[in-house]
Order: sequence, then C-alpha cells, then structure tokens
Amino acid sequence: MSKPLQAITGMNDILPEQTPVWRYFEQTVADLLDSYGYRQIRMPIIEFTALFKRSIGEVTDIVEKEMYTFTDLNGDSLTLRPEGTASCVRAAMENSLINREQVQKLWYIGPMFRHEKPQKGRYRQFHQVGLEVFNLPGPDIDAELIILTWRLWQKLGIRDKVELQLNSLGTSAERAEYRQALVAFLEARFDQLDEDSQRRLAKNPLRILDSKNEHTQSILVEAPKLSDYLGDESRTHFEGVKARLTAAGIPFMINHKLVRGLDYYSKTVFEWVTTELGSQGTVCAGGRYDGLVEQMGGKPTAGVGFAMGVERLILMLESIGTLPADIERQVDVFVCTLGEAAEFKALELIETVRDKLPKLRILVNAGGGSFKSQFKKADKSTALYALILGEDELLNQTVGLKNLRQEGEQQTIAWSALVDTLASLHS
Ligand code: HAM
Repeated sequence: MSKPLQAITGMNDILPEQTPVWRYFEQTVADLLDSYGYRQIRMPIIEFTALFKRSIGEVTDIVEKEMYTFTDLNGDSLTLRPEGTASCVRAAMENSLINREQVQKLWYIGPMFRHEKPQKGRYRQFHQVGLEVFNLPGPDIDAELIILTWRLWQKLGIRDKVELQLNSLGTSAERAEYRQALVAFLEARFDQLDEDSQRRLAKNPLRILDSKNEHTQSILVEAPKLSDYLGDESRTHFEGVKARLTAAGIPFMINHKLVRGLDYYSKTVFEWVTTELGSQGTVCAGGRYDGLVEQMGGKPTAGVGFAMGVERLILMLESIGTLPADIERQVDVFVCTLGEAAEFKALELIETVRDKLPKLRILVNAGGGSFKSQFKKADKSTALYALILGEDELLNQTVGLKNLRQEGEQQTIAWSALVDTLASLHS
C-alpha cells in the first residue's frame, strides 16, 4: 500500500478547533481597520517573478533563497508571493488607484510563501495582515500606523508583551553615503567578521548591522551610525514621528541597527518585538518606501505600510492574550428528536427560527439515535441548550428546552412561543 500523502513541510492546516481564534483575530482586525478608514484590497497570490526581484531587491535573503518560483505552461516565470507590498503597489498602479496623487489607505490579509527553515513562529506558508498607504508623505501617517497597532495589541490583551523598535533609514542618497563609510570601516576589519557578514559586505553591507554573530556585533559598536548621515528633512520627519508617538503615550526604543530585510525602505522603519515567542519575536514590521512606486515605473509617490504575522499573533493570543469567554462555543442550540414525525416537525420549526434569528447557531442532530446518545452529542457540541422533541412534545405541541451548562429543570415551551423564548435567551 502506498504511504498517505502529507502536507508540505512548513505549510500547516488550520484545524476546526483553531479556526475560532483565527476568526476572532480576523474580525477584530477588520473592525479596527474599518474604524480607521482603511479599505480592503485582495491581490492574487502569484505574480510575475520580476515584480518581487525589482521591489524587494535582488540581493535580499527573500529573493536570493526563499522564493517559490516556477515556470508555468506559457513559459513565464511566476512566484508565490513572499510578501504583500510588491503586489499591492502593482495593483494600485495598474488599477489607477494612485494616479493624480490620490490618497489610498489599503489593507489585505492572506497567505505568503517563503522557503525558510520552519520552526516555532516561522513557516513556509504563513499569513500576514498588511497595510499600505499612498500619497501621504508626512510623519502623521507613520504615527497613525503605529498607533492603530498599539490599539490592536490592547484589544488582544498583549500590549505589555510587545516592544516598539524604531529607526530612520533616511533617503537613498543619505544611505549611499553612509554605506560608503560603513564599508570602509568594515573592510578595515574584514578578517574579524563572520563568514556571512564577509559575504554581505560586497552585496548588502547594511544587513551586517543586524548580524546575529556576537563577535561581529562587538565590532559594530564602534561603527559609524546611520543617524549621523541623515539630512535635515529626514531628521525632521523622524522627529515628527517620535513626537506623535510620545503624544499618544506609546513607548518606543530607538534601534540604530534596525535596517529590515527588504530593500525598498526609506526614512521610518519599525518593528514590534516580543520575547514570548523565542527567536521569531517580530510580530509586526514595516516602514516608509517613498521611492518604490517610481522604481517600479510609476510617478514619485509616497508610500508607507507594515505587515503583521498572523500565526505569531495567534500564538501569543492563545498563550497570554485575551479571548472572548465563549470562544470555544460554536453552537448555541442542539436539537434532539425521536421518531420521524418529530424530526419532520423539528425541521419545520427550526427553519422558522432560522428565518427570525439568523445569528443563532443551531445544530440539528443527524444520524438518529436514542435521546441519551443525542444528549451526549449535544454536550460535546459545546451547545448551551438542548431542544427536545419526542412523542409527548409532538402531542402537546411543545418542545423541551434544557440548559446543558447549568443544573435545573427542563422547561416546556409552546411551539408558538419558541422564537420569542430563544430570542430572549440569546440576547
Ligand atoms: P517582513 O518583515 O518580511 O515585512 O514580514 C512582516 C511580518 O510577517 C514579520 O514581522 C513576521 O511577523 C511575519 N513573517 C515573516 N516571515 C514569516 C514566516 N516565515 N513565518 C511566519 N511569519 C512570518 C514584509 O513582509 C513587508 N511587506 C512589510 C511591509 C508592508 N512594509 C511596508 N508595508
């Protein structure tokens, strides 16, 4: 017999017992973003490979070694999206959402794909909620993005478990000047660098700043700082972000070594980091990318955004967050019947209830069985109430209603009063 097929390593099923937390998270995020005036956009999960190469950067880990790229039947090179910003910028350009300097505040949610080494909090298919804002160049919107995540952390009950790290990468000209100074500094100490940093020195020297190697980090203590290379405009912009965060009461830490792993950033960059998840502690990250639209063939357009890792936030939510007390409950009423006549009557009654109370979650027993076995199923279903219809009830034109979670007598309810009774219990 052949072995049963398994899912691809790092790509997870989200099982029925997990989906209530996912749905709660997704609903909380959607409600919050609605309240801040963001509109949802949905992009394809596959794009031309060139899109990611051009936007994320040829010499980044993502493009060099993490993309799921294949040739389709037309001979085109396609890639499963490793992130959402590139697709969102492409969609905004292609559909004229950002012509004539229109402001757009967009958000998306969905799976992303990176061929990384799977571990807790790091997967090959993972989900992001992302926000992208176009044509707002000021620091006020950078601050708004951070303020709304701060509100989300509060709603999820994880606010005191995440820390905000902030940096400014300046403009590309400022970065180029800094890059020269950094390379000169590191070249003089080339032999002392770890192998990975030696390799990065020629290709992407700024990434050496967030090297995990302790010896390299000790060398970097003396290295030139990017903040010393920022011009007046970048400095004022960054001060503007910091002042607004302070006004909103949001604590932050300046991390001069925060450079991000994607090449499109300029000015503000930030990460929300937790110590609750081991080494994969960044739950949300982003920044400004004012040059990206132009780099992709459009007009100069300000852009800023972030993305959060849904799996990482769900892990936090499940272990230390605040979930609604009844999150486990997926059924309100379980209907038990005995005999075909009762089953048919129940069908009719329940469909009327569904008309009147569309939000009530009603599970009708399927597969027959004694009342005893049906009560067992009712209990397991997480329902609050069992609705009972047997021969006696049929005769008396009533149903029995039993609270499955509290002691007490079963109530008898006339068919004519069923909708009102269930409505009052449910409110
Ligand atoms: P990123 O830092 O590559 O940025 O990813 C954002 C977040 O996605 C990370 O902080 C993390 O929470 C989550 N994440 C990334 N890779 C994985 C993985 N393999 N498994 C689980 N979670 C993961 C971006 O993707 C940018 N597009 C963010 C952005 C939007 N910047 C501006 N706009």
